[in-house]
Amino acid sequence: MIKHLLSINQLSREDVNRILDTAESFREVGTRVIKKVPALRGRTVVNLFFENSTRTRISFELAAKRLSADVINFSTGGSSVAKGESLKDTALTLQAMGADAIVIRHASSGAPYTLSRWVPASVLNAGDGTHEHPTQALLDLFTIREHFEHFDGLRTAIVGDVRHSRVARSLSLAMTKMGGEVTLVGPPTLIPPEAPGWGVRVSHDLDALLPSLDVCYVLRVQRERQRQQFFPSVREYSRLYGLTRARVDRLPEPALIMHPGPMNRGVEIASDVADLPRAVITDQVTNGIAVRMSLLYLMLGGDGTRVAGAPEVRVASRAPSGPAVEVLEGAQAILPETEAVPAEVPGA
Ligand code: MLT
Repeated sequence: MIKHLLSINQLSREDVNRILDTAESFREVGTRVIKKVPALRGRTVVNLFFENSTRTRISFELAAKRLSADVINFSTGGSSVAKGESLKDTALTLQAMGADAIVIRHASSGAPYTLSRWVPASVLNAGDGTHEHPTQALLDLFTIREHFEHFDGLRTAIVGDVRHSRVARSLSLAMTKMGGEVTLVGPPTLIPPEAPGWGVRVSHDLDALLPSLDVCYVLRVQRERQRQQFFPSVREYSRLYGLTRARVDRLPEPALIMHPGPMNRGVEIASDVADLPRAVITDQVTNGIAVRMSLLYLMLGGDGTRVAGAPEVRVASRAPSGPAVEVLEGAQAILPETEAVPAEVPGA
């Protein structure tokens, strides 16, 4: 398994399938009364967030805690960064404290890559500038696969502020890698000129596209990154690109509505649309924990190099009726329900 997760480009199809298959086992852990397994007991995961985040930070924190890792949450307010400490010194300090994995979110594209050259810990990109958000794309793939069971030929539209969206880039790369077709839809000012290089189509006409879609993926309008006026008014934007009830009626029956959150209800998505059963936005959040558990588990040694106390597992291909995970002879069953965490483990 890869050491760092910086971009979807690093992953092969097999890697993606393996991450999603492993996440399926971890999703089950989240349905138990005791949502915890000892796989990463004694390992340390640092959440290094230089940009605001609610769901991604909490999701990584929960993922690491459910694997029994020790978790340190570091945000720039109240830290030495506020006194001018550089990313390098912050990283080296955390490394000196024994971090095994560093999850980083940063406003600069490429910051996770730079960090990975300074520290021996595994680095996971939790969103870097307008570049990538690979764990979001993987949880989106997981959610899509839950519904369609494959990606081949699935038609996804990613709608809205593509220019400022790291989610759009990662999801485009991920869906096309897995055999899906992606169309980026939005006003010309919000589609980056390099977008066709991601292996996608571009359209400015959402209404024409709706009847052919399997997934309608709505992006947040990222006001905080817009340094100029990209559309005349919010009302105009919503009229042309907002996902309204009338537009949903033009989608085929099984098509999914997705959004990475946080949502601007009434701007890119109508409030009643966000609450429809086919809007799987809260499923995306739930699945994010399982996918991040899978990544931490595989990257910190769950891939053959045994982590002390971790189950030794081999992930089976997705047989509809068979178990998601095969247990190697003589090994513990994966994630046994009885493996409650001892009281002394923090956060238990
Ligand atoms: C991100 O961090 O990129 C989010 O998940 C999507 C957004 O902020 O709109």
